Parts: sequence; structure tokens; C-alpha cells
Amino acid sequence: MRIDVLTLFPEMFQSPLSCSILKRAQDSGLVEITLTNIRDFAANNYRKVDDKPYGGGPGMVMMPGPFFDCFEHVQKLSPQKGRVILLTPQGQKFDQAKAVELSAENRLILIAGRYEGFDERIRIGLGAEQISIGDYVMNGGELAAMVIVDAVARLLPGVLGDEDSAKNDSFGESAGGGLEYPQYTRPEVFRGMKVPDILLSGDHGKIAEWRHQQALERTQKWRPDLLTEDNKPK
Ligand SMILES: C[S@@+](CC[C@H](N)C(=O)[O-])C[C@H]1O[C@@H](n2cnc3c(N)ncnc32)[C@H](O)[C@@H]1O
Repeated sequence: MRIDVLTLFPEMFQSPLSCSILKRAQDSGLVEITLTNIRDFAANNYRKVDDKPYGGGPGMVMMPGPFFDCFEHVQKLSPQKGRVILLTPQGQKFDQAKAVELSAENRLILIAGRYEGFDERIRIGLGAEQISIGDYVMNGGELAAMVIVDAVARLLPGVLGDEDSAKNDSFGESAGGGLEYPQYTRPEVFRGMKVPDILLSGDHGKIAEWRHQQALERTQKWRPDLLTEDNKPK
């Protein structure tokens, strides 16, 4: 998959993209991430990409000119058209189902805003899908873009060592869209808390049954909003 990000702060992506799973995924060619600075397309010597809002009011608004020049440049970087996503708190809320949907694309173009947001003609002209990562307002779309890159990349075949990892995660297939079962590792006893005997029994059938039940119970307790007819505890 190819992911292009349009941003005013490409340097914000350096650290998350240069370690662990995302680094390995790029090194092995499973995902290619290209950052393009919208400011490089400013038409003036001051590299100005924002201006005061018409009608008055606080803050600055991202201008359409440099943005569209940047966007048209990025589109031509690859023959694949790509699925274009505008990051905005006014968009549809991002979740695991959306991550799965996006992971099937061959190219994503993510657009991160700054300041008071985009001139409305950017939204109208792009006609793009709008995604929010939650009902709160951040200073910019860079972290939102990173959230999407991270959640989508781990679903691409070959990115996680074990293909079943993502399926077993919370919201995944095995959890029926609910929460994952509790996990334990060594030591067997830690500060008086013991690993459940069933996990030490070696009986894989019983372990699977116990995990399934535990997952249902914690979904009911902590996230009853995720319960469906399929993942309700019996
Ligand atoms: C300060 S925000 C602008 C918010 C805008 N004035 C509004 O109320 O809708 C600047 C940029 O951060 C990004 N952003 C902020 N919160 C976000 C969220 N919850 N999800 C996705 N992007 C967000 C968007 O790209 C936005 O253009």
C-alpha cells in the first residue's frame, strides 16, 4: 500500500515512522509512506499558506491555492488514484471497521489541516471522505493521520509477525467486534496474583472456550455498546 500525507509539519511523523512495526513495514516494502509539505506550494516569498477568515473571527484559515497545487502534485506521484481522506473533527468517526475497509485500498491520500481548519472550498472541491478520530479538537491533523496510518498498516498482510494477531485483537474477528480476552505472561505468580489455572492446563479447547467467555464478559462489563446478538454472553 502507498500512503501519501499532505501536511504543514512533516517532521512530526519522523519518530512514529522510524521505529518498531511501522519501520519494519516500510523497510520490507509492505507500505510506502510519502510526506509532502503543503508549504512548499506557497506562491509567495513568505511561504504563506493561511489567511484571516472572511467575516472576521479568531485564527487563520488554510488557503485553497497552495493546498490544491500540493494535492494535484501528490496525485501525480503515483498512477493509482487513491482514496482521499480529509482529517477533520467534523468527519465520520474512525473505528476498526473503517481501518479494515481502508486496509483493502492500494493507495490512501491523507490530508492534515492546521490553524482554524480548511477554507470550505478545499472540502467542496475535493469532495473527499472526511474522517475524525474522535469528538475532540486537536491542533492539527498530523496525529489523526498517524493514528490512521498505524491502525491500517498493522492490518496489511505480512506486517504483523503472526497473521492471527489482528484477528484476535479487540474489535477483531475472533472477538466478534468486542474486546479481547485477558492476557498473561511469566511469572506464574506476581504480587500474589496468579495466572488462571486453565491457561497452564495445556488443554487448547478449554483455553479457547475460557478466552471466548472472558472476552464476552469484559465486553458486557466495560463496553456494552459493542455487544451484538453474536457476541452476547450466553
Ligand atoms: C484546530 S483544528 C480546526 C477545527 C475546526 N475549527 C472545527 O471546529 O471543526 C485544526 C486541524 O486539526 C485537525 N483535527 C483536529 N481535531 C481532529 C479530529 N478530532 N480528528 C481529525 N482531525 C482533527 C483537522 O485537520 C483540522 O483542520
